[in-house]
Amino acid sequence: MPQYDAIILGAGAAGLMCAAVAGQRGRRVLLLDHADRVGKKILISGGGRCNFTNIHTAPDRYLSANPHFAKSALGRYTAQDFLDLVERHGIAWHEKTLGQLFCDGSARQIVDMLLDECARGEVTIGTGHSIGAIDHADGVYRVGDDTAPALVIATGGPSIPKMGATSFAYDLARRFGLKVVEPRPALVPLTLPPDQALFRELSGVSTDVVARAGKAAFPEAALFTHRGLSGPAILQVSSYWRHGEPIAIDFLPGRNPAWLIEAKRARPRTTLRKLLGEALPDRLAETLAEQLALPGDIANLADRKLHEAARRLAGWTFLPNGTEGFAKAEVTIGGISTADLSSQTMAARKVPGLYAIGEAVDVTGWLGGYNFQWAWASGWAAAQVL
Ligand code: FDA
Repeated sequence: MPQYDAIILGAGAAGLMCAAVAGQRGRRVLLLDHADRVGKKILISGGGRCNFTNIHTAPDRYLSANPHFAKSALGRYTAQDFLDLVERHGIAWHEKTLGQLFCDGSARQIVDMLLDECARGEVTIGTGHSIGAIDHADGVYRVGDDTAPALVIATGGPSIPKMGATSFAYDLARRFGLKVVEPRPALVPLTLPPDQALFRELSGVSTDVVARAGKAAFPEAALFTHRGLSGPAILQVSSYWRHGEPIAIDFLPGRNPAWLIEAKRARPRTTLRKLLGEALPDRLAETLAEQLALPGDIANLADRKLHEAARRLAGWTFLPNGTEGFAKAEVTIGGISTADLSSQTMAARKVPGLYAIGEAVDVTGWLGGYNFQWAWASGWAAAQVL
């Protein structure tokens, strides 16, 4: 007779949610993690205030080889459901921007809330527990000395290894015959090659832009760093960027394409450098003006040249040579293939009793609370059938 109804590996966002809900449904749940504390990424998230969900959650804000996969779980456990839980626990929250909900106090409150929910479900939690041999025979999973008919992979992705993140989920999934979509760092700063080093000298300068990679476009701040580009707009496009492809930045979003020609008629004695300085941080204006190389009064510049300058400013092309990698990536794109999982229950199609939830799965959200919402929703979906 197995000791538990389910063993959940990984006490992060998804694992805690899944354990609490299954426990409260009367299931005997064991939640194991190799870290000394549960929910470490929750604790550092959102600058310590945890951007725990996004009220604009919708499947089109997630990347996956199967863009339909996330629909069922996200539709059944919504941002409002999580918000109701937060409110039941008396946690004060606020919307920061773009539908992003944060704790007024600290991310600790979210972890305490999940631990409280686990306690209500009488979940057994084992931290500092290096996961030993895993066997599966006669419909029973054995993890070290513990047994259960269901095993949930909730060990996340390899982003930020120094916090204990590993590729364990993928190794285990492969062992059971599940496919893994190539994992790569996402929501990650991009690096620029030496021939664009000029921009690295702007380290610390930030400005509101629209950043584009392929068809994806994000109007938010971009930040120049000593290695390249960061800030929310860049982190967002990094999930869509592929090696060898350019990204484009509109430094003056919302401007009429003829704005420089209009400026020439209205203020012929001004310079391009001055006009840029009125709209952009000074060091950036200087660099862009140098690159455009159109000195002197704009009255003396041909309309054609001004058109071309406006066009470049609206779609400045950068050719990143890489990312800052898993060490700096907020999430991992790719992961356990959704083709091998049920979108209703997160159960492996061909391995009875095996489930995968959270970031371990090939579903990755935009920046802004979307990834936690996926962790809550996928954990909740699996918990309904454990
Ligand atoms: P998660 O990584 O939370 O949990 C996995 C657990 O498995 C961990 O506890 C880990 O210790 C354990 N584990 C790993 N390998 C193991 C092994 N071999 N044996 C045993 N245990 C193992 N998202 C968002 O929506 N809003 C936000 O504000 C932020 N902010 C943020 C900041 C930073 C700095 C990072 C790195 C990430 C974010 N994120 C975020 C992303 C978010 O943290 C992430 O998507 C979720 O934590 C994923 O939840 P999971 O439970 O799937 O993995």
